[in-house]
Amino acid sequence: MPTPFYITTPLYYVNAPPHLGGTYTTLVADTISRYKRMMGFDVKLLSGTDEHGQNIERAAKKQGITPQELADRVYAQYQKLWSLLGVECDEFIRTTDPRHDVSVGELYLRAKANGYVYKGSYSGWYCVSCEAYAPESDPSTPVPCPDCGRQTEWFSEESYFFKLSAFQDRLLDLYAKNPMFIRPESRRNEIVSFVKGGLKDLSISRATLKWGIPLPDDPTHVFYVWFDALIGYLTGIGFKTDDAKFSKYWPVDTHLVGKDILRFHTVYWPAFLIAAGVATAKSVFGHGWWLSKDVKMSKSRGNVMDPFVLNEVFGSELLRYYLLREMVFGQDCNFALDAIIQRFNSDLANDLGNLLSRTVAMISKYRAGRISGPGAAKGDAEVRELAARIIDSYRKNFDDYNFSRGLENVWELISRVNKYIVENEPWAIAEKPSEARKLDSVLFHAAESLRLIAALLAPVIPKTAQTLWEQLGLDGKVTSVRLSELRWTDELTGKTTRSGASLFPRLDPKEVMKKMDSLTQQTSDTKTEAPPAASQPGNLAPQITIDDFAKVDLRVGTVLEAERVKGADKLLRLVVDLGFEKRQVVAGIASAYQPESLIGRKIVIVANLQPRKLRGLESNGMIVAASVGPEDKPVLAGFHEDVENGARLK
Ligand code: ME8
Repeated sequence: MPTPFYITTPLYYVNAPPHLGGTYTTLVADTISRYKRMMGFDVKLLSGTDEHGQNIERAAKKQGITPQELADRVYAQYQKLWSLLGVECDEFIRTTDPRHDVSVGELYLRAKANGYVYKGSYSGWYCVSCEAYAPESDPSTPVPCPDCGRQTEWFSEESYFFKLSAFQDRLLDLYAKNPMFIRPESRRNEIVSFVKGGLKDLSISRATLKWGIPLPDDPTHVFYVWFDALIGYLTGIGFKTDDAKFSKYWPVDTHLVGKDILRFHTVYWPAFLIAAGVATAKSVFGHGWWLSKDVKMSKSRGNVMDPFVLNEVFGSELLRYYLLREMVFGQDCNFALDAIIQRFNSDLANDLGNLLSRTVAMISKYRAGRISGPGAAKGDAEVRELAARIIDSYRKNFDDYNFSRGLENVWELISRVNKYIVENEPWAIAEKPSEARKLDSVLFHAAESLRLIAALLAPVIPKTAQTLWEQLGLDGKVTSVRLSELRWTDELTGKTTRSGASLFPRLDPKEVMKKMDSLTQQTSDTKTEAPPAASQPGNLAPQITIDDFAKVDLRVGTVLEAERVKGADKLLRLVVDLGFEKRQVVAGIASAYQPESLIGRKIVIVANLQPRKLRGLESNGMIVAASVGPEDKPVLAGFHEDVENGARLK
């Protein structure tokens, strides 16, 4: 019987479309699942959507639809994205699934029966965006949200509480006895000191909210997000609805999450489970963040990449390869389009693509497509030994979730085989019958290395691996290879290769940027709501709340550089110092200002606007200006007093 292996992604919020962060988590989870399947495990990969809560209720209201309609819409986007990217989920749990009501209710009743739930009143500074209270609860001192920095609101309400404070020792004991519970190691210490600092009881219900699961013994309350969402990991594998399945896969092997939600998974979640008498997870891995110019990509900062656009421009295979290869799993990493192009052109087109195309072309040209058995060429044994070592260290690295290292291993083999071909000069010996055994050997060693490479790459770039497989004349699926038994063999002898189209035609950076611009423009055009008809005096835009206004982050900055944008009469490219960072902004003010006159000038910019491309230049913000006269002449907003860079306008 194969050993079960259960892995989960977070359940994604449906208040916004999918973004790169969750896409990354899911692609890693899919890679691990594919790897484990090829290692002979009985794998369950669960992903899902977190559909309840105030944020979703608000987002739906803004769009004039019901929360359920919004959830259905975003759920469908996730389904589509996973299918485009080749993610094979075994289970997808939506927290609005009726099965979920059953399991959340059950866990709650068990925790309550064991004495860990009580009714009380909760007051605190609450971040509506993160759906979490700030740790400080002095009503006289408003505090920003510790996670996103936004303004919090003072809340007071009747609530059911979970006695998290009773779990400090048990959690510390859990961490001490299970060194793999929190990974990577570097994040363990943060969690341990957080728990050592003392734990407060946790509010797990809201009487003010409608959009949630009612408590089974007090339907005037609904469960509050984390208690609801985390239990999705149980519901998806049959907790209370399919006992056989549940006992086969629980406890989960790995919860894969971003580091910002590691605390919920390593403090709250094990405490909920212990309280209800359910086993805790074996391991929780908190990966790092994708950054844009050293700043976290996030929905609230508006600097996230749209995974649909990335897929359209680069295709799923390159995206998967880049994300897995570029980020050292566990650490942060900058996301850069030129780095994707570079990876493609050097690793895929040059190294792997050349190895495949020259090998298949030579077998076709010199041996009519038939792979002969091994003969004797310079470096044969070295290639075979290296392949064995590479398989070994790749497996170790993938077992440790060290994907970038594992891929480096594969590329070490690819480079060595390319070099081995060059050293033996098959094109020179092809004409000499006396060298036939040498030529056979070169062709065989190259082909067999490619067979191994195809198997090793299958978890990361499954479509490419299958194409390699087929071009080598192999039938069936590359995924049927058992990686645990993968070794150098003679099984290619006698196979007939099948030439195909070039796997990786080189990418032209200019073409890529053009496509990226036009798609980003299209999606931002369709996402942007129609501007209010406010340019006529007295014709005001529709009323907004103070919360709506608080979403606009206006900052003071100093213009450091200013120049005209070639080919665009109205545009200037500015570099603005915001105190905490420098930004490039492209602004339509060239008709009113000479670039030189702006250097050193204090201006105001909308600092949290999604980046846009204008004439190929990324604009990271919008300058605030009055629009004057019939020609809408821009006049920049400014100050009479000296104001420091980065100051926020409220
Ligand atoms: O947190 N780089 O949902 P979510 C890498 N519903 N990962 C990132 C990232 C970045 N720049 N930004 C976000 C939730 N992420 C909850 C989970 S689980 C029971 C409930 C990651 O849609 C982030 O760390 O906000 C998290 O893993 C996921 O994307 C965001 O999920």
